[in-house]
Amino acid sequence: MKGLLLSGGAGTRLRPITHTSAKQLVPIANRPILFYGIDDMAAAGVTEIGIVISPTTGNEIQLAVGDGSDFGVSVTYILQDEPLGLAHCVVVARDFLGDDDFVMYLGDNMLEQGLAGFVAQFENARAAINAPQLGKAPGVAPVAQILLAEVDDPTSFGVAELNDVDEVIRLVEKPSNPPSNLALVGVYLFDKTIHGAIEAIEPSPRGELEITDAIQQLIDDGHSVVHDVLSGWWIDTGKKDPLLECNRLVLESLEQRIDGHVDVDSVIEGRVVIEAGASIINSTVRGPAVIGADSIIDHSHIGPYSSVGLDCRITRSEIDNSVVLRRSRITDIPRLTDSLIGRDTEVERDPRRPRATRLMIGDHCHIGIE
Ligand code: TTP
Repeated sequence: MKGLLLSGGAGTRLRPITHTSAKQLVPIANRPILFYGIDDMAAAGVTEIGIVISPTTGNEIQLAVGDGSDFGVSVTYILQDEPLGLAHCVVVARDFLGDDDFVMYLGDNMLEQGLAGFVAQFENARAAINAPQLGKAPGVAPVAQILLAEVDDPTSFGVAELNDVDEVIRLVEKPSNPPSNLALVGVYLFDKTIHGAIEAIEPSPRGELEITDAIQQLIDDGHSVVHDVLSGWWIDTGKKDPLLECNRLVLESLEQRIDGHVDVDSVIEGRVVIEAGASIINSTVRGPAVIGADSIIDHSHIGPYSSVGLDCRITRSEIDNSVVLRRSRITDIPRLTDSLIGRDTEVERDPRRPRATRLMIGDHCHIGIE
């Protein structure tokens, strides 16, 4: 089984971060989102991984992941010239995939549950068909397996309709009248039959080759598509608030580790990681929280569910439930919450008169002033 990790795309919902960087490299608990997906694949025994990249952020992804040896896998990069859809990623990866089975994983999604059980279920179902037990009629081998999660509001997801014997009979994109509360999670298993199904579909009204259309094509062609229902959380981190929620969930599993310097006037409470080279000066850090290497927290309060990246400087400020990326400076800000702060950013109180908010911000930003 090979792995296909999708790490291209436009990332419009995470602008302005994605104007300069890949959303799959935004850190969750100070580790790029994409790394968790690679770990999950490695843990499921999938060690030959193709990563789909875009012309704009591909270099950055290659620099971060390298040849995969740090993760115990081997990585092949596959360039997708334009973000023409999830099924288009399979088309551009055709040479890499050959006729092998593969697990496809959206590089900006995170799952609490590992992939091992999901992969084993597919392999076992196919093995059972290929070697039927004595006295039992051979069944139909599944050609695809989708992962579903129960959601409160299915209208904003791809939704699966199942029949009485739990087979997938239909997939509907963002239905106004959902046939179930089972949403498609960004993990799919396919055999080579998917390639023919993708050839048979047309781009959707938004101009993309949709993987849901390709799976529907498999069903319409009479193939067996099976499913598994996810246990544990699943988050599509492609927008700010889900990303912060994901950061919270991952920080929850943190083990305390203090490798940096904490002065006698500082208080560290709960599960906190202070990386080597970081300094906490006359400050409070209340976990779960992580402070990146070489960062300085000075006369400040870092509240729960905060991830402060590498080489940041937080001075006379209070932050909670936020992700601050590397080399950013936050000075004299009494309370910053629910925020995603990009790299090399400065947020500071301006003492000049007349008192006013003075901004120099990039395109597609969102600023919430108290
Ligand atoms: P999406 O989040 O569905 O799409 P997007 O990245 O274009 O984001 P937005 O809707 O905010 O503009 O993509 C899911 C994952 O798949 C993500 O990691 C990007 C990747 N992807 C590709 O690699 N190629 C593609 O053509 C598309 C659509 C997505």
